[in-house]
Amino acid sequence: QKEGYRFFMEKEIYEQADVLADTLRGRVLDTGIEFDELDENLFDGISEIKLCACGTSYHAALTSSYLFERLAKIKSSVEIASEFRYKEPLLTKDTLFLAISQSGETADTLEALKMAKQAGLKTLSICNVDNSSIVRLSDASILTRAGIEKGVASTKAFATQVAVLWMLSLYVAQFKKSLDTKELQNELHTLREVPNVTVIKDAIHEKTKRLAKRYLHGHGFFFIGRDVFYPLALEGALKLKEISYLHAEGYPAGEMKHGPIALADPELFTIALLSENLLFEKTKSNMEELGARDSTICCVSSYMYDKADDFIVLPKCNHYMLEFYEMMTATQLLAMEIAIKLENDVDMPRNLAKSVTVE
Ligand code: F6R
Repeated sequence: QKEGYRFFMEKEIYEQADVLADTLRGRVLDTGIEFDELDENLFDGISEIKLCACGTSYHAALTSSYLFERLAKIKSSVEIASEFRYKEPLLTKDTLFLAISQSGETADTLEALKMAKQAGLKTLSICNVDNSSIVRLSDASILTRAGIEKGVASTKAFATQVAVLWMLSLYVAQFKKSLDTKELQNELHTLREVPNVTVIKDAIHEKTKRLAKRYLHGHGFFFIGRDVFYPLALEGALKLKEISYLHAEGYPAGEMKHGPIALADPELFTIALLSENLLFEKTKSNMEELGARDSTICCVSSYMYDKADDFIVLPKCNHYMLEFYEMMTATQLLAMEIAIKLENDVDMPRNLAKSVTVE
């Protein structure tokens, strides 16, 4: 049932626009965000959201922590579930515990959720599988509507998790009245654009195929970005390492000088996620620093940076979250094309399982 695609991962990358449209349906209304599954007073008495997840779902959580603070003006912290379980966290009842999991069965996330419940916290989950253990255990849950994800490397589940989390941050913003009508309308309008910008453009896919021919020889990769593009850099690096088995690290662009730039040489490929809408100058100068130390730079941006060695040129748009989705598909395709050129089994990478139900 690959329907002409070479791998399920490819099919799932191409499905993202449709599943995003499904995930938004009935939730993004003209006047605001609605979640039928949520009780109106879920956020009563809540002053902090603690997000907890593993792997790609953790990257979705990290992305949303920028949105919760920026849009909803609510404190948010993000925990890797396997760390949270053993750090003896201090939990207070004004915290909402939010578990994020595609499968709803990840052992560490499930156990973390149990701990939060035992501490008397209100719990919410965002999952892709209805009636999964995490859904059943949480007080409330919101389903992503990504459909069954077969590729071990998560793509469409991540896309929908970020969309639900963004909607949730607007839902909290409504509750807390932290955005004025115009700001809220702008966010709603932008959300509706997400499926469109996530449709795969032939030119971009072709470009990633061309780049893959050279990049498969890379000795190491940095993915760099700031703000929401930092978790996206982590996710881009994770995708690449999972299926290509090449060494890749995601970094906040501003961290380079604090150590990693020592690795820069022409065999180090830097995938720079350069937003034109958010922290453009700052990120550009971090990219230039790496270029000046001879790292090979691939600039993923709607901005044509003439000093980069390579480009993936994205369509212009006027909101950083639309750039986020454009860059997300570009980095997914790049990882997949490199792995295909290396003749790896993209859907079943070595040493990995789709669902991690043991610790
Ligand atoms: C990466 C990937 C994993 C999962 C992680 C959590 O592509 O799929 O990192 O994101 O194992 O799984 P869920 O979301 O099912 O809890």
